[in-house]
Amino acid sequence: MDLTSTEVRPVFTAEAIAARVSELAAAIRRDSGNEEVFFLCILKGAFMFMADLSRAIDRHARCEFIGISSYGKEKSSSGEVRLTKDLDSSIEGANVLVVEDIVDTGLTLSYLLANLESRGAASVRLAALLDKFERREREVQIDYLGFKIPDEFVVGYGLDFAERYRELPYIGVLRPSVYSRV
Ligand code: PRP
Repeated sequence: MDLTSTEVRPVFTAEAIAARVSELAAAIRRDSGNEEVFFLCILKGAFMFMADLSRAIDRHARCEFIGISSYGKEKSSSGEVRLTKDLDSSIEGANVLVVEDIVDTGLTLSYLLANLESRGAASVRLAALLDKFERREREVQIDYLGFKIPDEFVVGYGLDFAERYRELPYIGVLRPSVYSRV
């Protein structure tokens, strides 16, 4: 039995995610021509999406990582975010494809996209698996979107609750009984 089935209600199965990832990869391929794809994964939530998207791309690819943590997301909308792991190399002149698991308020992305442009990237596009559009506070352009979702607490496929559930191969809604006991 799935140990998490009493805690998580599945919404997107592993198969549904894989099918959507391969559609997104096809669109990215079309738009990239023969150019190498410069993936930039936002840690930690996007690690699984990045792994699958980069394997589905069927083009030369570069895989880079950046760590970001937002301050007081629940309490404030200051947009203050902190770099927990910086890029290992320069992105000057690169056509960067940012890979993100979820856009929620948009604070993280609006900071990061501006930051990447200020470092001299030639272009910055965004692939996001999930769009929790009802909660948006800053406008963010998503060039490649997996799924729009309502304002529910989702976990799995990289997304966590208190560092748990990232390992699930599917995405589901966390049952309120789980977070009400924390
Ligand atoms: C999540 C997610 C995005 C951000 C989106 O990261 O991965 O980076 O929140 O929220 P926003 O649109 O409201 O800014 P989180 O801070 O939970 O860190 P994690 O990816 O390491 O889990």
